[in-house]
Amino acid sequence: MVHSDNRVRCLMVRSIGERTTMQVETVSENDLPAGDVLIRVAYSSINYKDALATTGHRGIVKKLPHVPGIDAAGIVEASRDPRFAPGDEVLVTGYDLGQGVWGGWAEKIRVPGDWVVPLPSGLTLREAMVLGTAGFTAAQCVLALRRNEVFPESGRVVVTGASGGVGSLSVRLLAKQGYEVVAISGKREFHQHLTEAGAVEVWDRSALADAGERPMLSAQWAGGVDTVGGTPLTVLLRATRYGGAVAACGLVAGADLKMTVYPFLLRGVSLCGIASADCPSARRRRIWSLLSGPWKPTELDHFWVTEISLDQIPEKVAAMLQGHVAGRIIVNLKPTD
Ligand SMILES: NC(=O)c1ccc[n+]([C@@H]2O[C@H](COP(=O)([O-])OP(=O)(O)OC[C@H]3O[C@@H](n4cnc5c(N)ncnc54)[C@H](OP(=O)(O)O)[C@@H]3O)[C@@H](O)[C@H]2O)c1
Repeated sequence: MVHSDNRVRCLMVRSIGERTTMQVETVSENDLPAGDVLIRVAYSSINYKDALATTGHRGIVKKLPHVPGIDAAGIVEASRDPRFAPGDEVLVTGYDLGQGVWGGWAEKIRVPGDWVVPLPSGLTLREAMVLGTAGFTAAQCVLALRRNEVFPESGRVVVTGASGGVGSLSVRLLAKQGYEVVAISGKREFHQHLTEAGAVEVWDRSALADAGERPMLSAQWAGGVDTVGGTPLTVLLRATRYGGAVAACGLVAGADLKMTVYPFLLRGVSLCGIASADCPSARRRRIWSLLSGPWKPTELDHFWVTEISLDQIPEKVAAMLQGHVAGRIIVNLKPTD
């Protein structure tokens, strides 16, 4: 199907009374938010934050109706920003995209020039979205471990929520750099996939579900990447060795952190917060150049990737909110003939 140029298909979230609905709609290009760069989107992706946005989550969506999608990669169609010209391949992740500003689940987006990153050589538009915010966040987690001197020779590291977007890419980035990764996953059917992604061992989620009341546990980990928060994060921190570090980025298992400060005071454990959306531009570009170069996962284009259309988003979002999806889901927004 070919669409006339100023018509934009998108996945629109609306409120009807107390309910939130989502459906594919066609809007005019004039309805898009103000901004200097108009991008024809080739691919977007689904992240946990996007799934929450479809519920109208107040912490994410500023107002309805709303188009979610915190990631987009595509081709510049028009630009008032001299740094970009029509035909440039670019990507946008984070900032206010898909939150305060209509996002990437649309054939076009209009955004401020400061949000736009030139597509690094070494990545296709599709690969950029296989990584997306998930890969960008995973890379920041790995950088945080390295900054805290948790290196491959330091000992085993843990990744929680390992079958998810951030989790699976964290396993792959760490394994590629030579870390011994123990993946924690609630999905038995994906344990083999996690081994293929590079995990040396895969443990069931129950391993970090409850470890009693003791302030500290036997020290076994050099550190880890936690994508779930709640009890698993506290168990991981309490079982991290002297001088270790844990990068924390998620909250699917809970936003509370109920523990004592003893692991910080007696073992010097560091808890590193990761916040991708507002990562400053220069650092952002450095991270993308790592992801497109030395850190690029092998077989990025197809390993553990599900490609869907705009119409298939609602079904995948429902599965994600129930914790049933694995790997990365990308949304193909290119017009079909
Ligand atoms: N701070 C940031 O900048 C940033 C950036 C991106 C994402 N995030 C956050 O990171 C988290 C992961 O995002 P994502 O996009 O990778 O989501 P995702 O693909 O849905 O992955 C989340 C994974 O967490 C595990 N999980 C789900 N429910 C759980 C529960 N109740 N208890 C324990 N584990 C559970 C599942 O893995 P298993 O079945 O394998 O256990 C699931 O695949 C989210 O909280 C998201 O908001 C934060």
